[in-house]
Amino acid sequence: MTPDDWERAVARLSWATNVTVFTGAGISAESGIATFRDDGGFWTRFPPEEFANWKGLLHLAVLDPARLAEFLIEVLGPIATASPNPGHAAIAKLEGRRPTTVITQNIDGLHQSAGSRHVLEVHGSLLEIVTWLGKEPLRTLTREDLQEIVRRIQDKCRSGWSGFQLLKAVEPLFGLSSRGFHRPNLVLFGDAMAEPAWSQAISAARSCELFISVGTSQSVYPAAMLIEEARDHGAETIVIDPQIGGGDIWLRGTAGDILPRLVQEADGE
Ligand code: OAD
Repeated sequence: MTPDDWERAVARLSWATNVTVFTGAGISAESGIATFRDDGGFWTRFPPEEFANWKGLLHLAVLDPARLAEFLIEVLGPIATASPNPGHAAIAKLEGRRPTTVITQNIDGLHQSAGSRHVLEVHGSLLEIVTWLGKEPLRTLTREDLQEIVRRIQDKCRSGWSGFQLLKAVEPLFGLSSRGFHRPNLVLFGDAMAEPAWSQAISAARSCELFISVGTSQSVYPAAMLIEEARDHGAETIVIDPQIGGGDIWLRGTAGDILPRLVQEADGE
């Protein structure tokens, strides 16, 4: 990142009256949640062909519940204990100063925990429980609920495994109630995007003046097309990421370092 890039980004943000921020797993990396494709990322340890679709997960529940339990502990554990980092906080601060829409691919609820109010979760949320087929909202889980589920899985793990025991441990997430089967409102590979969040995300990308992409490899479609949608509709684009560039301006670095300084300088603090 050249000093010129930095000055341009600060100036652009200080003028912008309508901002869209688009985040991926990288924004939550400094909260202790692994990304998907970096070294040691989720998909390097748990192949997405098996773990990123409902059919694969159901298959594992029957044939290899211990492996599924390992995956669930790795997914749920960090989210259960996570708190927002300075990157999330800076985005929430931005929303307090100018019209800002946050579009996230993340399912961890950390933008809301940081105070962002206008958040479009285009891949759904781990904390929102819905009916399996109609996606009718049933209840919202807390991070404490997730901690309890992780404890229950770990307890069952110690006493030996069966698919039935695993189902009992994860009952608040996946199970049967008077409304039929329920599950978290997640978008896995092959699913339609979460609505109405996705339609609203396309509108936000098309109508903003400045589009800031943070911590995403921009490799999963259709979410990855939002930056191009924004650019095609006249927005300037800033990318904040230590490895993946692009955008009119690339601020190379981590979200927790770059975002607080950018927001502070743009607001003349
Ligand atoms: P990826 O794991 O593909 O990309 C993470 C990005 O975050 C990379 O570009 C890293 O360089 C960057 N990064 C790492 N640490 C960072 C930090 N501290 N600050 C800023 N950036 C950092 O994750 P996503 O792009 O979010 O979807 O993945 C998109 C989708 O793929 C996910 O929503 C998920 C996954 O499969 C579904 O499962 C449907």
